[in-house]
Amino acid sequence: MKIIVFLGPPGSGKGTQAARLSQHSGLVHLSTGDLLRTAVKDGSDLGHAADGFMKRGELVPDVILIGLVEHQIAQNLSAAGFIFDGFPRTIPQADGLKQMLKRNGRSVSAAILFKVDSEEVVRRLSARWSCPACGAIYTVIGDNGSISMCEKDSSALTRRHDDDPAVVQNRLAVYEEQTKPIENYYRVESVLREIDAQQTPEEVFKALLQALL
Ligand code: AP5
Ligand code: MG
Repeated sequence: MKIIVFLGPPGSGKGTQAARLSQHSGLVHLSTGDLLRTAVKDGSDLGHAADGFMKRGELVPDVILIGLVEHQIAQNLSAAGFIFDGFPRTIPQADGLKQMLKRNGRSVSAAILFKVDSEEVVRRLSARWSCPACGAIYTVIGDNGSISMCEKDSSALTRRHDDDPAVVQNRLAVYEEQTKPIENYYRVESVLREIDAQQTPEEVFKALLQALL
């Protein structure tokens, strides 16, 4: 079973590349951010617990995330493997994942670090709009971008609450303080691979496939 972890600041392209790699490889794409956003939308207990943290760009407590991921793995035991997009994000989460995998005689195969600078993150996230109905992502440059409706189903496009510029700054700071130490955690385990994520999505995907050889 292949276990791939995607690391990198907000907006570094983890979700974009995980969707692509999942389609290419058949590995299950597990995005903790997407799972939490669905829970918030559904108004579940998990959603109520996570909502405030997400709106502020803070991390949801480790115990909630570890339980959520454990549940997802149990639901997909026959999978060829997983792409963890946005998990782990703290050392306790990395330890939690290690323990979960160890119980089944497994370990992380590769941790991919998507490297991108803060200016590019701000540029990408301030241009991101999405369709609440089908999830399609659009890049709209400028305040009065020409697209306001989904081209597939004509729904009005919306923005993620946490793409507000002040929240993006906080997400970047949280990454530096709480998630960056994981880079070294996986470097020490000899599974860290670094990718220049500032290139086009196609170039990043090529680099990703190369890093996974
Ligand atoms: P999460 O949803 O994981 O957000 P994130 O990691 O902050 O980052 P994004 O999803 O915004 O960016 P991405 O790297 O996926 O990039 P994307 O491909 O979308 O987490 C959200 C919140 O949930 C957290 O703040 C926290 O509260 C909570 N949470 C989640 N996991 C947690 C955990 N493990 N522990 C605790 N709390 C947790 O691309 C971004 C934009 O750029 C898109 O518009 C895209 O089209 C564009 N783009 C992508 N690639 C390129 C490229 N190469 N060139 C130009 N544009 C590009
Ligand atoms: Mg994402």
